[in-house]
Amino acid sequence: MNNLISFFKRKILRINRDRWNHQYGKGLWDGLKAMDELARFSVIVGYVKFLKPGQPDILEIGCGEGLLQQRLQTQNYGRYVGTDISDLAIQKAAQDAGDEKCAYLVADMDTYKPDGQFDMIIFNEVIYYSKHPLKTLQRYSTYLKPEGLLIVTINDHKHSAELWNGIKDGFQLVDEATTITAKSTCVCKILA
Ligand SMILES: C[S@@+](CC[C@H](N)C(=O)[O-])C[C@H]1O[C@@H](n2cnc3c(N)ncnc32)[C@H](O)[C@@H]1O
Repeated sequence: MNNLISFFKRKILRINRDRWNHQYGKGLWDGLKAMDELARFSVIVGYVKFLKPGQPDILEIGCGEGLLQQRLQTQNYGRYVGTDISDLAIQKAAQDAGDEKCAYLVADMDTYKPDGQFDMIIFNEVIYYSKHPLKTLQRYSTYLKPEGLLIVTINDHKHSAELWNGIKDGFQLVDEATTITAKSTCVCKILA
């Protein structure tokens, strides 16, 4: 019966949270932990340490199972808030965090209103799941502290150029880096 309800919610009602929970439950996103995904995380970690040395306050949208926070390490942030639409991913992230500076919560990026202001807000492989990428980034940018920055990564695919074009007029490009692995090419942009 539960399977039937889950199928109905995912396939007929197309409820995002159920679809993502199903995928995490099946282990379909386990590949994000692999070495061929490491480069894009490392670029973000490098940018955070270089651009906001010390203990910046960081908000990550669509954080999944908390891989970026684990790679960033506790000494490199003052406060880290990770949000994701999937309860399952957030449960796992919170379980692995073991850090009182960290908070994980379930939230849909299209409606979530952050609590406080941040030095950096990160969208790592997630902005294309927003209904309105540019509006979403603009709305989140109002939660940045003065001199705060957005970090956005988008994996190369057939719509990525269109996506970047849709975003670029709203922001000033501070820097960008492209990582190429055996699996994919990923562009990371720092936006002000
Ligand atoms: C490709 S995964 C990337 C996960 C993580 N950022 C990483 O790089 O490993 C996309 C993530 O976006 C989340 N997501 C999808 N739609 C979302 C939404 N509307 N609001 C918040 N998170 C969302 C999914 O649950 C998933 O964890």
